Amino acid sequence: MYQVGIITASDKGYKGERIDESGILMKKTLEEYGYAVQKYRILPDEQDLLANEMIHMSDELKVHLILTTGGTGFSKRDVTPEATKKVIEREANGIAEAIRYYSLQITPKAMLSRGVSGIRGETLIINLPGSPKAVKEILEYILESVHHGLEILLGKASECAAEK
Ligand code: MTE
Repeated sequence: MYQVGIITASDKGYKGERIDESGILMKKTLEEYGYAVQKYRILPDEQDLLANEMIHMSDELKVHLILTTGGTGFSKRDVTPEATKKVIEREANGIAEAIRYYSLQITPKAMLSRGVSGIRGETLIINLPGSPKAVKEILEYILESVHHGLEILLGKASECAAEK
């Protein structure tokens, strides 16, 4: 069973001024897909706090997957992609590209998400936008491929040649 860490980046969520619907939905969906959610945190939109939590989840808790929600837009407080870029060792651009490609077919505003994806050690990190609508749409789209990516990252599947 793959271990997951969830981080919601939201100043209002952190202060308790908004219910974190997106984080809750993310947790529920991941559990439905058979993942074990080891840690779920709401943090303010602060680059160092977000980066440190990603490092903790990856290096100490050794989760296989970190999903973030929020902080990917154009607001000056939106710094989740910058925090992620600081901690990843290898880019996995295809996931972020696929998210935008798919999401653009739902709303042109998908072009406003600056989310990134990459790998730190044996942890895959993926940024999702902040709205519950976006989280639902994107998780349903990416989770099958993410599962296969984790198998390869962790050496449980070595190649895709047999797949069509
Ligand atoms: N992607 C999907 N699939 N569905 C959405 O509704 N909303 C967009 C975009 N990506 C959206 C989406 C909007 S309106 C914005 S502003 C950006 O994500 C950034 O969101 P964030 O700042 O909450 O991370």
